[in-house]
Amino acid sequence: MPLEKVQALNAARLTVLRAQLTPLLETKLPITLEIGSGHGHFLTAYAGHHPDKFCIGIDLLADRLERSARKSKRAQLANIAWLHAEAGLFLEALPEDVALREIFVLFPDPWPKRRHWKNRLIQPAFLSLLAQRAGEHCRLYFRTDHAPYFDHAKAVIHEHAGWTLSDSTPWPFELATVFQERAAEGYQSLAAIKACVKSPECSVPVTTSNKR
Ligand SMILES: C[S@@+](CC[C@H](N)C(=O)[O-])C[C@H]1O[C@@H](n2cnc3c(N)ncnc32)[C@H](O)[C@@H]1O
Repeated sequence: MPLEKVQALNAARLTVLRAQLTPLLETKLPITLEIGSGHGHFLTAYAGHHPDKFCIGIDLLADRLERSARKSKRAQLANIAWLHAEAGLFLEALPEDVALREIFVLFPDPWPKRRHWKNRLIQPAFLSLLAQRAGEHCRLYFRTDHAPYFDHAKAVIHEHAGWTLSDSTPWPFELATVFQERAAEGYQSLAAIKACVKSPECSVPVTTSNKR
C-alpha cells in the first residue's frame, strides 16, 4: 500500500479512536490497559475483582473484541471498555494528561522466525512509547509460553532506561487466558516498574516461572 494511503488510514483511525476515548476518559483515570486482550477472559475477571480500576482492552481482531464485550456486559461491568486498536495508535490517541497505571501483555504473538522478530510488540521504541504514557509506579506485566520471546523481552526491558525489571512485584491476578490454556509446556512471567532513575538497587532482573 502506498505510504500516503497508510498515513491517511492511520489519521482516520486516530480520529475515530480519539472520539471513542473522549467519553471513556471523562471520569475514569488512570487506566489499566491490556494489549492484545484476545477473548477478554483475563480483563473481564480482573475488572470484576477491581471495581475501583478502569480497564481498557485493545486488540486488532474485531470478533474477539465482540466476544469480550459480551462477557463484560453479561457480568454487568461498568469499569471496562474494549477498543479495536493497534497498540501504537492507541498510545498516540491517548490524551497527554491521561496516565496508564498498569499494562498487561499476555501471550503476545511470538513471531518465532528471525526475519519476523521486528514485529514483536516488546521492542525498545515501543517500551519508550509505553513509558511516556505510564504514570508514576506504573507496572508492566508480561507473560509468554515462548521461551525465546521471554528472553528477548527480559533483555530488552533490562536494557531500557524507562523500565526496571522487578522480581519483588507479585503477579497481581491469576485467570488463565485462552492462549494460557493452550500453553502445554508452561509459561514465564515478568514484571517491570516504570523507572524514574535507573539505579543499582532497582535494576534487579526478575522472573517468575511456571515451567511444567
Ligand atoms: C496470541 S493472542 C493472545 C490473546 C490473549 N492475550 C490470550 O492470552 O489469550 C495475541 C493477540 O494480540 C493481538 N495483537 C497483536 N498485535 C497487536 C497490536 N499491535 N495491538 C493490539 N493487539 C495486537 C492479536 O490480535 C491477538 O488477539
